[in-house]
Amino acid sequence: MADSANAGQGGAGHDDEGTSRRDFLYLAVGAVGAVGAASAVWPLIDSLNPAADIRALATSRVDLSPIEEGQAITITWQGKPVFIRHRTSEEIETAEEVPLDDLIDPEPDAERVIEPQWLVMVGICTHLGCIPLGQSSSDPKGDFGGWFCPCHGSHYDTSGRIRKGPAPRNLDVPTYEFADDTTIVIG
Ligand code: FES
Repeated sequence: MADSANAGQGGAGHDDEGTSRRDFLYLAVGAVGAVGAASAVWPLIDSLNPAADIRALATSRVDLSPIEEGQAITITWQGKPVFIRHRTSEEIETAEEVPLDDLIDPEPDAERVIEPQWLVMVGICTHLGCIPLGQSSSDPKGDFGGWFCPCHGSHYDTSGRIRKGPAPRNLDVPTYEFADDTTIVIG
């Protein structure tokens, strides 16, 4: 096919152009293949604790400004759901006032947040790994107003701490930092 196209145009220059175009196509296909391969091996790379430059690719930057107070969003980070809730002042107060003695996995709310209004957690139940409900306004939020994992009945509070049910630990807080007032970088 390429030969007949070049024959129509004639001349060595067009051959070169045709060759370059074919090379480009091969390169483009090769690049897609490489991306596919990179995705497929990512969990393995991740488990091998990769170098910092590879690690940097695993960060997620999130603009918090569209999330209204009382709303929550879920993003994907390193293949995991991450819950981000813009907490109301009542939710913050409730979380801060809980005596540590009442907690299954005692952890002050202040140690789980950078800014109290933003709660950022890996949304994976610490029992058997289901994704708890509580992100959308119509979801059941359990007995403590946070998240509820219906798989086996774990209830988390407004700080994402386990309060009732079989889960042994609070929802994990990933490493993150504020890049500016309304942007976080997770990972
Ligand atoms: S996985 Fe959540 S309660 Fe079992």
